[in-house]
Amino acid sequence: MRIVVSDDPDSAVHQAADIVERFVSTSESRALGLATGRTMEGLFAGLVNRHRQGLSFRAVDAYLLDEYVGLDRCDPNVYRSVVHRLLARHVDLDDGSLHGPDPRASDTDAECARYEREVRDASIGLQILGIGSNGHIAFNEPGTPFDSVTRVVELSEQTRSDNARFFAAGHSVPAQAMTQGIATILAASELLLVAVGAGKASAVARAVEGPITDAVPASAIRMHSNVTVVLDPPAAQGLE
Ligand code: F6R
Repeated sequence: MRIVVSDDPDSAVHQAADIVERFVSTSESRALGLATGRTMEGLFAGLVNRHRQGLSFRAVDAYLLDEYVGLDRCDPNVYRSVVHRLLARHVDLDDGSLHGPDPRASDTDAECARYEREVRDASIGLQILGIGSNGHIAFNEPGTPFDSVTRVVELSEQTRSDNARFFAAGHSVPAQAMTQGIATILAASELLLVAVGAGKASAVARAVEGPITDAVPASAIRMHSNVTVVLDPPAAQGLE
């Protein structure tokens, strides 16, 4: 595992964007796994800048890690809309090349099984990850088995309260989501985890230096042979 501690959040995002740019412009695989969330907003902005300097996403197929259950497809918090708004519409990434679970699927279990097959068939080349303050990756909350695949999950109170900042007043964070499992994520050829801010320090320290345990879902990335963790100094402050 490579750990990069950048000078500040902007440099962390810049270094993460370098890794994504290298993948998009040189890798044979064009299947890129995307996370969402505050950390990704900076990374997406960096990728939009790279596009303005010539980086093309035309050949890329992008796959979402997770999606809320039950939101309207046009809800601004639907992750497909978020990625469209912050990345796809500013670069040459077609909407048809953006893949994810359908938040309005009537049979969510069947939708998860369909998406698991789609992701496995795509063979993700580079999977970008954030980390939750409770150590989650995607929406795999503490206690998730490492052999988990795409499925419906109940969101923890911690995650719902962390994500409430994205929802307008009077709109609550859904109680359920569909998420790639840990086994699904580990099947990608390469992982890139990005974390900035002191709020992530404890989760990062437990994931990177604590025991590999399902109590800290992000610790599973240490079972992968090609992982880069990019941090800013506050996110790295708990590391030995
Ligand atoms: C969402 C996802 C989550 C986030 C994590 C960090 O697609 O995968 O695991 O990466 O919750 O979110 P932020 O960056 O908002 O702190």
